[in-house]
Amino acid sequence: MTDSATKDTLFHITDLHFWKVLLQPWRLMNKRLLGNANVYLRRRHDFHMDRAEEFARHMLKAGSGGILFGGDFTSTATDEEFLLARRFVDLFLEAERPVYVMPGNHDVYTFESVRKQRFERYFHDLIPEGGYPCRIDLPGGTPLILAPTVTPNFLSSKGRIRAKEVEAVRQLLADCPSGPILVAGHYPVLHRTHAYDSPPSRRLRKAEALHAVLGGTGQPTLYVAGHVHRFSYVQDPGYPNLRHVTTPAFFLKRRKEPTQGAFSEIQVQASDFVVYQHVCEEVWRRDSENPRHGHLTP
Ligand SMILES: [Fe+2]
Ligand SMILES: [Fe+2]
Repeated sequence: MTDSATKDTLFHITDLHFWKVLLQPWRLMNKRLLGNANVYLRRRHDFHMDRAEEFARHMLKAGSGGILFGGDFTSTATDEEFLLARRFVDLFLEAERPVYVMPGNHDVYTFESVRKQRFERYFHDLIPEGGYPCRIDLPGGTPLILAPTVTPNFLSSKGRIRAKEVEAVRQLLADCPSGPILVAGHYPVLHRTHAYDSPPSRRLRKAEALHAVLGGTGQPTLYVAGHVHRFSYVQDPGYPNLRHVTTPAFFLKRRKEPTQGAFSEIQVQASDFVVYQHVCEEVWRRDSENPRHGHLTP
């Protein structure tokens, strides 16, 4: 269901967290031991990836438009998990849908996975030439900028964007034609909204620098992120041109909550954005969302 005023539609899927419990102890020498325990205790209950194909089929019927994968394809960045993730992404490619990818912190979960360039190997054909940040123009002409925000950590889940990367994003934004701009990163730049409150150990370091650049475009700008596993659509508290969307984990099933999966649909109009949240509670429904007010970073 696309409005005639819509020039581009983008579906945002994020935090798929494909998982596979490892049983060989010699592979558990590092942070992955923690991640593997987490998978065993939590993710196998919370991320019911057995419904992957069914969910993909639903998404393909939900409307035409590109698919932006916002990262955290995996849980502990193993080959086994990347294989599952790649097979899932291929369902969209086989349906000839435009697909855009970026890594999440779980895709660079260990220093070993970064050294072996696992994300790059499994998605080599989908990673923009020259890496991130980059600008992609959607079929209707809307610029989509993908910002790098992830780094491996010993224990925390902090994100990182370097000063030179912020400057590269600023330059890409400055070169955009007039009209709405989409920018996506794995981490939100607002640490807190009505829907989530990120602890310091899970935040993007130096988020303020990226936030200021997004606020300075002088054009309607929507920043799209994942990582917090909560839906949130807010007007920026300081910049009238800027709004923020976060999308829940695609397969997340919360105990005591009826939600079984979710993704966002973003329609770009001449000078505005329209956002829908798709939620599965036994059956899928599509809710039209209005931006709420954001909170300044404490
Ligand atoms: Fe995640
Ligand atoms: Fe994440």
